[in-house]
Amino acid sequence: MASFVASKSKNLEGSIKVPGDKSISHRSIMLGSIANGETHISGFLQGEDSLATLNAFKEMGVDIKRNGSNVIIKGVGMHGLQEPLKPLDLGNSGTSIRLMAGLLSAQSFNTELTGDDSLSKRPMARVIEPLSQMGAKITGPESKPPLSIIGGQKLSSLTYTLPVASAQIKSCLLLAGLYAEGETCIIENAVTRDHTERMLKGFGYKVNSVNGRVSLSGQGELKACNIEVPSDISSSAFFMVAASIAENADITLEAVNINPTRTGIISILKLMGAKITFVNKKKYKGEVIADIFVRSATKLIAINCPSKFNSAAIDEMLLIFLVAAKAKGVSYFKDLSELNQKESPRLEWGSKILNMMGIKTKLTNNSIKIYGNPKLEISKKIMIKKYLKDHRVFMMSVIAAFTCGGKWEIYDPDSIKTSFPSFLRVIKKIKN
Ligand code: S3P
Repeated sequence: MASFVASKSKNLEGSIKVPGDKSISHRSIMLGSIANGETHISGFLQGEDSLATLNAFKEMGVDIKRNGSNVIIKGVGMHGLQEPLKPLDLGNSGTSIRLMAGLLSAQSFNTELTGDDSLSKRPMARVIEPLSQMGAKITGPESKPPLSIIGGQKLSSLTYTLPVASAQIKSCLLLAGLYAEGETCIIENAVTRDHTERMLKGFGYKVNSVNGRVSLSGQGELKACNIEVPSDISSSAFFMVAASIAENADITLEAVNINPTRTGIISILKLMGAKITFVNKKKYKGEVIADIFVRSATKLIAINCPSKFNSAAIDEMLLIFLVAAKAKGVSYFKDLSELNQKESPRLEWGSKILNMMGIKTKLTNNSIKIYGNPKLEISKKIMIKKYLKDHRVFMMSVIAAFTCGGKWEIYDPDSIKTSFPSFLRVIKKIKN
């Protein structure tokens, strides 16, 4: 298995454009496939996760042509998907399996959804239970993948309060709700990313979102549209954090999606003293984009992080922990049990990596205290070997090496193919 060797870089500067948003890329394939007409997508993320979704819909008979990040889908309409000849392999992708569980529970044919070792350990009861309440026939061993779906069920609508803040559960149920008779209503106590709602509107479908209640009436139709996928804030976050911690940094991240349900990292970093500004803010096909300027922070301070930011920063938490490691004082992050439900138990691994860096932490199953050290300068060797197959653990470790020093040997560089295949090339552009 390959490893990547990284060490400190003092100056980070330049202007970069990171690849397309992963969440939006998945949804563009799903909705484009069941729309009437031809959907043109540009900026599609060529990562293994979104390509797994694309291939799955091809296997269900949808004509999808891809040339790099440009994709053309000949939509088959709400009832035009065909039974796949084999189980649909969704690799490492939790978004694919959970959203497709909703969509496929409403089809006339049976499907089986599988994935890699990491995906096979992830909890699916969170979608199996509400889908079953809608009348779906969906099972998995110990409520984990592979999921077997028996088609031909008539789904009824559902009003459902999300037990955990999860856009994947919300989106799964909205996609099932498209086929149900009556109004499906999802109630969320914490705001989660709203790309499904925004994109459904782009496809001409009526969705109401008021005071944490998202509802739609089933059995309508989607009209094909053109989608320009903006740059992913979760991929941009690696550079926001690198620039904030580095001694001499001045980085511009071009045309990033700054949808307010995704900017938790910016709110948190600003409270910790980061210098981040938006320029050229504009509406962009149902989303909002801006160029993001980030300079080295003169002083990073610890935070008692309000949990209201958690779900809008859930994929960036490891990076935020890294900033806390370099901040003055003790930071505290709570209500984070969801972080252990990701591609790896990230709350645990985040703590272990900080400990390897010489940072003291206090960990529980849903919180972490981080004893920051602004003078942190690592000189020892650090080997990150166990955390295989988690792209965000790999990339966070690379950023830690570039900003905090030490000689790092990090496995598994191939994991970046999941969400950000050009990560190491983009880093070279800003590292002097
Ligand atoms: C995603 C939602 C988030 C996030 C994941 C992508 C999505 O998961 O962690 O990477 O595209 O809906 P949860 O909503 O389950 O927290």
